[in-house]
Amino acid sequence: MPPDKNYNLYFDNAATSWPKPEPVYTAAEKYLRSTGGSPGRSSHSRALRADRLVYEARERVSSFLGAENPGQIVFTLNATDALNMAIKGLLQQGDHVILTTMEHNSVLRPLGSLKRKGIINTTVVPASTDGYPDLDYLQNSLTSTTRLVICSHASNVLGTIMPVKSMAEIAHRHNCLLLVDAAQSAGCLHFNVKELGVDLLAFTGHKGLLGPPGSGGLYVREGIKVDPWREGGTGSQSEKDEHPSEMPERLEAGTMNVPGIAGLNEGIKFLQSEGMEQIRAHELSLATRLLDGLNKIPGITIYGPSRPEDRLANVSFNLKNFDAGELAFALEENFGIQSRTGLHCAPLAHKSAGTFPHGTIRLSPGYFHREEEVDYVLECLEQTARHLVN
Ligand code: ALA
Repeated sequence: MPPDKNYNLYFDNAATSWPKPEPVYTAAEKYLRSTGGSPGRSSHSRALRADRLVYEARERVSSFLGAENPGQIVFTLNATDALNMAIKGLLQQGDHVILTTMEHNSVLRPLGSLKRKGIINTTVVPASTDGYPDLDYLQNSLTSTTRLVICSHASNVLGTIMPVKSMAEIAHRHNCLLLVDAAQSAGCLHFNVKELGVDLLAFTGHKGLLGPPGSGGLYVREGIKVDPWREGGTGSQSEKDEHPSEMPERLEAGTMNVPGIAGLNEGIKFLQSEGMEQIRAHELSLATRLLDGLNKIPGITIYGPSRPEDRLANVSFNLKNFDAGELAFALEENFGIQSRTGLHCAPLAHKSAGTFPHGTIRLSPGYFHREEEVDYVLECLEQTARHLVN
């Protein structure tokens, strides 16, 4: 039973992480209350301090992701914004794009709109029920007009960690670029853009990176030219009506989300001080406990890879004959447990898993959870399942 009637346990970190490390709150507040100033726009001390803050954050993101230099990191509002920027800034009339069924609507919808306008054509690579894209299908789908391959680094529905390195090798053998959606993996898995061989990588600040909503970014490998889809003030070359071509200004326009970026900087600083190995080890142990416990509850079907090490900590499942929404309602109403149900903005991933159109219930523990909290969720689920099924 919940410790008291106001108790709640947030298990929806795959949607957005909460709580944040304390310095994330204080950095955002400090900027708003006392720093002020628009970075790169004026020469007074507030603007210069804001500028230094943004530069420090850009350097931190760059070294965290293993980019060539901080200028290859563009700040965006979130992963959706970064994916739109890459997709709409790279693709031209007649281009062919390959994606997988594991993509989120942040990829499916911009591609769908370019396709409906007759600008591009696409091929969707099928994935297995546990979320792995068919690499032979990918290989056989490449044509002389294929410009871009897009894949998520880890599935927001099934947690599956994708074979991104192999996909990069296949794409590069055919002179195509690989754009990776790291919305779920950044801050949960240790990786390096160079080692993965990715050309562009979109990330959000508010999930595993533990920053505020409204922060995120796009890594663009040196030498790749993405056309801006948002143009305007940059504080540089103001005499021209042409947007600057240099990175990162090329893809940044307008006053920046400095409190968000300040918080993101602290979120990543926290991950660096804990160590990504420790972060991953703890999340993996929570996922292992959750999977083991779910496996023991009669009537529960778990989706995604069975080996915890092949996945992130988000776990999707269903209880036999019960609507996921009904189960989630019972969990929150009776025990204060907060989860996410439905299609998770990734309808094709649910088709691959065999859970379309009703979807699943997803529990996503985060770094701040303790094993006892996972045990509490499992006890409540066991009790709910027994009650609903009988
Ligand atoms: N894409 C986010 C999720 O999976 C919002 O919940």
